[in-house]
Amino acid sequence: MNNLLIVDQNKCVKCGICANVCPSCIIAMEDDGPKCIRDRGCMACGHCVAVCPTAALSNTRCLLEDQTPIKNELISSEKAYNFMRARRSIRNFKPQLVEEDKIRQLLDIARYAPTAANSQGMYYIVVSDEKLIRKIADATADWMELEIAAGTSRARYFNSVLHVYREQGKDIIARNSKQMIFALARRLNETGISNCEQSWAYVELYAPTLGLGTTICGFIQTCAATGYEPLRELLKVPTKQKIVGAMIVGYPQYKYHRLVERQHLKVEFR
Ligand SMILES: Cc1cc2nc3c(=O)[nH]c(=O)nc-3n(C[C@H](O)[C@H](O)[C@H](O)COP(=O)(O)O)c2cc1C
Repeated sequence: MNNLLIVDQNKCVKCGICANVCPSCIIAMEDDGPKCIRDRGCMACGHCVAVCPTAALSNTRCLLEDQTPIKNELISSEKAYNFMRARRSIRNFKPQLVEEDKIRQLLDIARYAPTAANSQGMYYIVVSDEKLIRKIADATADWMELEIAAGTSRARYFNSVLHVYREQGKDIIARNSKQMIFALARRLNETGISNCEQSWAYVELYAPTLGLGTTICGFIQTCAATGYEPLRELLKVPTKQKIVGAMIVGYPQYKYHRLVERQHLKVEFR
């Protein structure tokens, strides 16, 4: 039970911070330092090791030597605020495809997004095949038709989307994109969609620093969330996985010159 934590007794000052921050409450402070009281509860988040002010602690599920010291690189709140405001959903791209290495770089940051109980476990499929993307958009449109026929609450909205897609011939579903990223999670992971939303937030904010633009494909995501088989088949999704997200990516065609306003903050303090 106690071999999860490795304590360097020469460095441990018994401050108890590791026990205080442990999200699973499995660390107890004893006279000779921190002790793990329930090692199966460890979610390998690494908080206990990362927070130790004297680098006295390692965790077999999150080793001290694998952690990177934090340099004081905090950006000002004003810079962060404007940077986050400047992110826009990008739907018009230059013709060239994003290189594999760059997409790897983009997705790499998503590994650091929060996930329920540090479950992580996201899988990605990058489609750089325009014809396949058109088939995916068509399959989503077919699914919308089924929803309309079934008279679901989304029927009216989908009717107008289908009108634009089919009658006006405008790709409102996949935005004529040439590259799309799909996020997958294990089929039984109940928090897969929530985890994906967090990952997408990281990806969308990081994209502009790589000169990239992204937009979440809500119609495709919603269709995928129902487990729509034709979509699963197009992407050859393994039985044990489910699609939890879809996003287009590319080099933005246009530059934005102004920050927009949003609804005012609605908050109540009690
Ligand atoms: C869950 C979700 C689904 C979305 N689905 C689509 C979509 O299917 N097509 C699209 O063009 N934009 C989609 N968007 C982007 C929103 O339209 C966009 O975030 C919103 O209009 C605000 O614009 P901004 O992201 O540029 O600030 C989606 C965004 C979210 C969060």
